[in-house]
Amino acid sequence: MPIIAPSILAADFLHLSDACKIVNESSADWFHLDVMDGRFVPSISYGMSFIKQLKKEGKKYFDVHLMILEPEKYAAEFKDSGADGLTVHLEACPNLHRNIQQIKSLGMNAGVAINPHSPIFLLKDIIGDIELVNVMSVNPGFGGQTFIPHSIQKIKDLKSLILASGSSAKIEVDGGVSLDNAKEILDAGADVLVAGHAVFGSPNPKDTIRKFKNM
Ligand code: DX5
Ligand code: ZN
Repeated sequence: MPIIAPSILAADFLHLSDACKIVNESSADWFHLDVMDGRFVPSISYGMSFIKQLKKEGKKYFDVHLMILEPEKYAAEFKDSGADGLTVHLEACPNLHRNIQQIKSLGMNAGVAINPHSPIFLLKDIIGDIELVNVMSVNPGFGGQTFIPHSIQKIKDLKSLILASGSSAKIEVDGGVSLDNAKEILDAGADVLVAGHAVFGSPNPKDTIRKFKNM
């Protein structure tokens, strides 16, 4: 069964405790939390104080996706705010190996996110050191975008790289994931589905999560 990670970015920010309840009571596995700095990506979302508040009610794994420059400045604060896994962007980190070591030394699972234009082979020398790869299937910065079809080939390439290297990294797919394309994404090799609008924009989010889980 896939790991399902609803993205809180698509929840109603006036009723975050309802969103926590939905995820807690559903068959979802993780909370997916998107942090945007207005520099690496065009938009600004929320930061560590927001996540710390959510952690009081969110009872599942906190998967924090940093779309920010210089994540090393904030990694310890994200740990303190309740992050269980911290994902940084390949494109934002000139010293990516150092970022990974820092995240692990803080006691979190380390992930690397890769933008639609970046080829999978750039992960070759880091794949053995990380627990997660986030394959961005939209350009990061906004929820509610359309899935980029070429991502399917990237998931397959990544699966081959993981098998060839003996890495235990999970493949997470993030952006434009829906009940219509989830099966194809999972067949290509994905382990984790992030879904924002498909979950919180649906009439019955818990039921939608159940459908994703049973794909
Ligand atoms: C986009 C974020 C995504 C976003 C996904 O930059 O990384 O996690 O919340 O939202 P949907 O599922 O609506 O595309
Ligand atoms: Zn994300």
